[in-house]
Amino acid sequence: MTRHHRSTPRITRLLGSLLLVAAAGAFSVGAAPAPKAAPTPLDRVVPAPATAEPGGSPYRITAGTHIRAGSGEARRVGEYLADILRPSTGYRLPVTDSGSGGIQLRLAKGPFGEEGYRLDSGRSGVTITAREPAGLFHGVQTLRQLLPAAVEKDSEQPGPWLVAGGTIRDTPRFGWRGAMLDVSRHFFTVDEVKRYIDQLALYKINKLHLHLSDDQGWRIAIDSWPNLATYGGSTEVGGGPGGHYTKDEYKEIVRYASSRFLEVVPEIDMPGHTNAALASYAELNCDGVAPPLYTGIRVGFSSLCVGKEVTYDFVDDVVREIAELTPGRYFHIGGDEAHSTPHADYVKFMDRVQPVVAKYGKTVIGWHQLTGATPAKGALAQYWGVDASSAAEKARVAEAARNGTGLILSPADRVYLDMKYDRNTPLGLSWAGYVEVQRSYDWDPGAYLPGAPASAIRGVEAPLWTETIENSGHIEVMAFPRLPGVAELGWSPAATHDWEAYKVRLAAQGPRWDALGIGYHRSPQVPWPAG
Ligand code: ACM
Repeated sequence: MTRHHRSTPRITRLLGSLLLVAAAGAFSVGAAPAPKAAPTPLDRVVPAPATAEPGGSPYRITAGTHIRAGSGEARRVGEYLADILRPSTGYRLPVTDSGSGGIQLRLAKGPFGEEGYRLDSGRSGVTITAREPAGLFHGVQTLRQLLPAAVEKDSEQPGPWLVAGGTIRDTPRFGWRGAMLDVSRHFFTVDEVKRYIDQLALYKINKLHLHLSDDQGWRIAIDSWPNLATYGGSTEVGGGPGGHYTKDEYKEIVRYASSRFLEVVPEIDMPGHTNAALASYAELNCDGVAPPLYTGIRVGFSSLCVGKEVTYDFVDDVVREIAELTPGRYFHIGGDEAHSTPHADYVKFMDRVQPVVAKYGKTVIGWHQLTGATPAKGALAQYWGVDASSAAEKARVAEAARNGTGLILSPADRVYLDMKYDRNTPLGLSWAGYVEVQRSYDWDPGAYLPGAPASAIRGVEAPLWTETIENSGHIEVMAFPRLPGVAELGWSPAATHDWEAYKVRLAAQGPRWDALGIGYHRSPQVPWPAG
């Protein structure tokens, strides 16, 4: 497999800019001093804010700046902001609950909703106001992007640290702005998952969907069925060592995600995509024979045994144990590509399993094939079809939406982050076609599925399947720059949607990714700054 060497392009760019600096020095002797750095315009943010009114003087962060953040969760958001700003500014930036001016994070009643905020910037300070700590956190992400990209570096930088004057009022279009990571086809360590969480947070993503089981690996410890993790998790695509999360490790992922205001959505894919479970326990198989572990990338060959009672004991134990570890509201039961489960069995299975999820206090989510069974009241379906999907399939999902099933939109030929950008992309697959940056961004979730009422659309999610993805560098070159576009589709008002404007805002993120050590696809569709 081709590995993506993250450091090479960065070093090349660094050398390039050193040469440019040297050249500029040679030709600028006696010339006028360089113009003062202008602060980033208030609307040069991804996702685009709902409204941005420039005006007044900029605020300058200095060695004397305090971060004022009250107590509790607001205080923790203040500490998070300080952790980002301190290394690059070199300032102390004490987090306090008193004083005036500086950077203030303030909880207050107002028209902010659960995640919105207002950011006011002027000579004496920047104030972020929100009803909920999540709103303060999202406002902090906006503030980050208003500062120069170098603020993301982990060593002291020259500044100046200016925030343009004016007011941003911002609130999300959709409550569901998700990213899915398939930790089954290849296993990812807790630290790799945390690194992705931090990247998702920068773009106001609020759901982390973990695809915890599939044919190639079972990735979470289940006390009542221990072989699932120890045997079913012992390999991965290509035959590597695989791995699994202990319960404490999974809880640590949940805790870390929560500290970044992401809700973890666990998925156990059933009744297909279950070879790792079937290999771990012979009794789960209709013929009582455990198949070997699987390390290829075919789909659709495995099925739980719908006619055996032990299957439902297994499902009950697994859902109960994972639900106990998961404070989030949702449990994803998969349900896609059950090609080895007769349709009548599929319907029967979903009728048995959905009440188990409810029994343990969670809301059912399934891939949209669930709409071919009887979705439980309040269930959500995750649509992963493509433009070329049959009209009948789209109509079935739209009908379920009219009957009350909420939809999460993940059209594979738009937002599957594992699709190659073009024929030269070293990683990824192409069964849904090539998905360059504009294609990924240029669609409207509110009007996407004919016949589905806009009110049924809960939001968008960008899945990253990992048949070819093995490490953080791989994740990043597939997610960037497409992920921020999906985040914008989920957050920004439809009225701000404009590829020509978006690509300029997106291009300005490139230096930020360089500063963060994120290797990204330098799409020719995006006018990246030189350097
Ligand atoms: C899927 O891509 N099978 C949900």
